[in-house]
Amino acid sequence: MKTTIAQVGKFVGQEVKIGVWLANKRSSGKIAFLQLRDGTGFIQGVVVKAEVAEDIFQKAKSITQETSLYVTGIVKEDSRSPFGYELGVTDIEIIAESVDYPITPKEHGTEFLMDHRHLWLRSKRQHAVMKIRNEIIRATYEFFNNEGFVKVDPPILTGSAPEGTSELFHTKYFDEDAYLSQSGQLYMEAAAMALGKVFSFGPTFRAEKSKTRRHLIEFWMIEPEMAFYEFEENLQVQENYVSYIVQSVLENCKLELNTLGRDVSKLEKIKAPFPRITYDEAIKFLHKQGFDDLKWGDDFGAPHETAIAESFDKPVFITHYPTSLKPFYMQPDSSRDDVVLCADLIAPEGYGEIIGGSERIHNPELLKKRIEEHQLDETAYEWYLQLRKYGSVPHSGFGLGLERTVAWISGVEHVRETIPFPRLLNRLYP
Ligand code: 4AD
Ligand code: MG
Repeated sequence: MKTTIAQVGKFVGQEVKIGVWLANKRSSGKIAFLQLRDGTGFIQGVVVKAEVAEDIFQKAKSITQETSLYVTGIVKEDSRSPFGYELGVTDIEIIAESVDYPITPKEHGTEFLMDHRHLWLRSKRQHAVMKIRNEIIRATYEFFNNEGFVKVDPPILTGSAPEGTSELFHTKYFDEDAYLSQSGQLYMEAAAMALGKVFSFGPTFRAEKSKTRRHLIEFWMIEPEMAFYEFEENLQVQENYVSYIVQSVLENCKLELNTLGRDVSKLEKIKAPFPRITYDEAIKFLHKQGFDDLKWGDDFGAPHETAIAESFDKPVFITHYPTSLKPFYMQPDSSRDDVVLCADLIAPEGYGEIIGGSERIHNPELLKKRIEEHQLDETAYEWYLQLRKYGSVPHSGFGLGLERTVAWISGVEHVRETIPFPRLLNRLYP
């Protein structure tokens, strides 16, 4: 019976045939242990000299790393392996050899691994991270579909900039200038006026000269936008969504979390509601923590975010930032206009900001004024202003960065391991 590693549990005691690669191998004169992978999972194949034909045992002993083969064997339950099964190998059929595979079981430097990303993806750790990424994507669609949201795809080539003009990738669009999207938000606001509750899920681009463990040049963002939702309702969608994806990963990626050595007790606590502190309270807290130089109006950096996050065991919303720190479209607080109705969601364990969101300005005059203050080209925002001319309503939304969320949930240090082919400062290869 031809099957896959993920399916072997259905065939205990039976003989199966699986197309695999050899991930690793250990052998002695009498027995060979083959670590096999097929994309769906990893399983150990055991070849016992006394139980197979001599040529099969010799084949097993000489197969090189990443050779592809068909393996035939009897599925056995094995309580010692986290996967729960192993294969008593009866036959081996080589498909194609692999000579001098560069990524050996020994330690390699990061740059070497990044140069070989196309192969590095095959490793057990990278496989686990990609499976967790996939589960977060699956749970995202499930959550928003369950909540009655419509998936909308904003354009990638755009003429306007939501998040400030300094980090745009510029390109020619025939005779016009265009930019790669840094956020689909403005288009999602238009979509919310047509469809009520919408979400997008797509690539975004930022020409940020940042070389940190949290920054990618190309990353994927989930951007929900909801008509008639005010500030607090927006936060509730966020905490419910983040709780949902964490609990889905806990439920459906046990093996992968185990492979990564993730402390799941920390993830088990991630259930709505999440704590909220205002920017003003955060400043006071940080002063007490010894950040004496920090002034009201300063933005928070990674050390500040980490200090705040460390005092909670759930993600924490920092709300009501100074207007001067945030983009032009955010609704001011009704009781004071030096702060806006926004929130950043800071992940625990030092993973930093995973969500930025806000209520949006729905008053046309104020929005026009802000566009002028930010010295944006008004002609590019004419369509956006029209959303406030024809039946404007309060509305809110947010953007969750997929890779930072994968990094946090998987417990991996750097976002470069959370996307198949990371685009980083000075890295466009492979
Ligand atoms: O806070 P940001 O810039 O917000 C927006 O773009 C809003 N327009 C979203 C909205 O309200 N619809 O980005 C949102 C999230 C951040 O919290 C972070 O998780 C992620 O996107 N992000 C990055 N992730 C990786 N690399 C980068 N360079 C990132 N920049 C932002
Ligand atoms: Mg932000």
